[in-house]
Amino acid sequence: MRRDTYAVIDLDALEHNLTLINNEIGKESVYAVVKANAYGHDLVTFSRALFDLGIRHFAVACLSEALTLYGEAKEIVEKSTVLIMGYTSDALLAEYREYPFVFTIFSLEQAMILNESPAKVNVEIKVNTGFNRLGKRPTEEYLREVTAIQGLKNVSVHGIFSHLRLAERGEDLRQIESFEIFCRSLPFSGFQKHICDSIGFIQYPEARFDMVRLGAILYGLVPDRQLNLGYRPVLSLYSEISQIIDVKKGEGISYDEQFSARNDMTIAVVPIGYGDGYKRSLSNQGVVVINGHSCPIVSTICMDQMTVDITGCEARPGSVVELIGPNTPVRTIATAARTNRNDIVVSLSSRIERRFMKNGSIVTTV
Ligand SMILES: Cc1ncc(COP(=O)(O)O)c(C=O)c1O
Repeated sequence: MRRDTYAVIDLDALEHNLTLINNEIGKESVYAVVKANAYGHDLVTFSRALFDLGIRHFAVACLSEALTLYGEAKEIVEKSTVLIMGYTSDALLAEYREYPFVFTIFSLEQAMILNESPAKVNVEIKVNTGFNRLGKRPTEEYLREVTAIQGLKNVSVHGIFSHLRLAERGEDLRQIESFEIFCRSLPFSGFQKHICDSIGFIQYPEARFDMVRLGAILYGLVPDRQLNLGYRPVLSLYSEISQIIDVKKGEGISYDEQFSARNDMTIAVVPIGYGDGYKRSLSNQGVVVINGHSCPIVSTICMDQMTVDITGCEARPGSVVELIGPNTPVRTIATAARTNRNDIVVSLSSRIERRFMKNGSIVTTV
């Protein structure tokens, strides 16, 4: 243990969440979405934990994440499918086409670059059914293009996928329908099709098809309306008070030019800041919990430290500060920071130690 500011990654909660998912759809049909450092939970260690729990499909956003997995957990990559869901440039497709990844593509030109590989390259085709981000629209022309891709000697269409906008039910259903029609209209089969992320998985069981791509619910980051489904948060975040300062009415604290103490107050300094990925927008907005007391963050969060009001609380240097946990759920922090849950956990920087816990004991620290 190297630092007093640390995240706990609860592997029992992860196992619990996977069991709930497995009760709905077999693990073999789950792409575990581990992009963005496994939503801040640590890409390599978290992927290893998933592998140990039976996951054999991993989805990342970009080539560099796939390469990190390959470099640091080759044994997993060799026994799994690693889908790169995002865009890979032509130059990188050419450079890395012999690596054991599944590339997402959306044109014959990209496929022809991969076709130069001496061995078969698996690809997944992205269809834009309405998200308007990556992939081409499900037109007759795209059907012909995808058929031509499948006709290449060294390229195999391993899957076809799309992504739901999840803004409005009617629109989602239209996306699902046009995706199904597109897949059905192809003159070949043998590919896997998928469209659901976590919310889609819960809201549209009829659209789970061959695979689902799950991030949020694996990590227990569920939307408010799905809190009753029993998924448990995997990550919590703690620190310790480094110093306590009595501040007189009218004194300033931290960089905030506007802030002046309204009364005499007791301030605790907590060694975490926006350099750790703790959102600066929580300045004067967020709350931490110390010995069961809710303590507001006062003044501006600095890069490495921040100050909280502990007036009237029982606390001393070394007292534990809960920043994300049972009393400070990610959704509350996200609301205070005016952002979403993923942004809160994904932002946690490498300076925060991750302690992986199982049955109450630390099994790995990174
Ligand atoms: C293409 C794609 N599929 C699946 C996911 C997983 O989404 P969620 O975390 O909501 O399960 C994401 C995440 O943003 C994504 O971009």
